[in-house]
Amino acid sequence: MLVALFAGDGIGPEIMAEARRVLDALGLDGLTYEEGLVGGAAYKAKGHPLPPETLDIARRADAILFGAVGDYDCDALERHLRPEQAILGLRKELTLFSNLRPAKVFPQLADASALKQEVASAIDLLIVRELNGDVYFGEKGIRTTADGLREGYDIMSYNEAEVRRIAHSAFRAAQVRRKKLCSVDKANVLETSQLWRDVVTEVAADYPDVELSHMYVDNAAMQLVRNPGQFDVIVTGNLFGDILSDQASMCVGSIGMLASASLDANGKGLYEPIHGSAPDIAGQGKANPLATILSAAMMLRYSLGRPEAADRIEAAVAKALESGARSPDLGGAMTTREMGDAVLAVL
Ligand code: IPM
Ligand code: MG
Repeated sequence: MLVALFAGDGIGPEIMAEARRVLDALGLDGLTYEEGLVGGAAYKAKGHPLPPETLDIARRADAILFGAVGDYDCDALERHLRPEQAILGLRKELTLFSNLRPAKVFPQLADASALKQEVASAIDLLIVRELNGDVYFGEKGIRTTADGLREGYDIMSYNEAEVRRIAHSAFRAAQVRRKKLCSVDKANVLETSQLWRDVVTEVAADYPDVELSHMYVDNAAMQLVRNPGQFDVIVTGNLFGDILSDQASMCVGSIGMLASASLDANGKGLYEPIHGSAPDIAGQGKANPLATILSAAMMLRYSLGRPEAADRIEAAVAKALESGARSPDLGGAMTTREMGDAVLAVL
């Protein structure tokens, strides 16, 4: 099976190198790797954040491990040339519509959470974020109003087929967990959300074993901090999911710990840490590679059919934390490489 490795910008290459060392240490046969340029790195080398040769690797691959994109040097480029277009383009081109972002407290890190320990320790939730629609992909631009003012606009929309497929994805995820699904929207204000809510409610008829609730996104943001233990699976749109998943990561301790999977309808997936490229600390060995290493574990489980290898990685990460491995985001001083070493030592 072919695994694409797209390291990207900022801390991307450092964290990817550690994930690669972990994958190599597992000694799995039948896996081959191909590297590709994405983001600012690709723009600088090839003139485009998602060059055709990278897209070609992605299409041929069975799974993609992705680092991070984003580069201050590129912030002034036209939007379609900015680094972020690499990840947005891959999600869209490969129809990776279902983004699974699990957030669970590692008992070893309970003290790293921004929340009180007894609140944080109850967190075991999964955010299912829609990735192919919403305000991210609607018509957008800057125009001039009748009275000569510059006006920015981004159209938010979801059609019922898009909502239906992510709803099915979320209900299925809930079925193999605690069978509770909370759909998050802003139906008190947005028509897009009203349709979202109606369609999710229709789909619920196919899943009588799952308990469905609905929550407005502002309340959900509050409840995530007040009582996150109430959530099992959360399903939400692209924009709300982006925001809530960053929030959930700090509830469990650090954004440097959260892995994610972005899946198409057939189980092909892209796997990435939910954090960004952190250009401010790039090249300094300060980045926590665990979210990327845990993303590699998700990849082995969901796309490569190697659940036992995924278990080994996850157990090794837990053991490494137990033995005190801490990067700066976790309140320690270990370098990216030392964090990788700590996981390898257990493996
Ligand atoms: C994420 C990131 C991306 C997003 C950016 C890099 C475009 O924040 O994966 O959460 O907004 O989806
Ligand atoms: Mg984000």
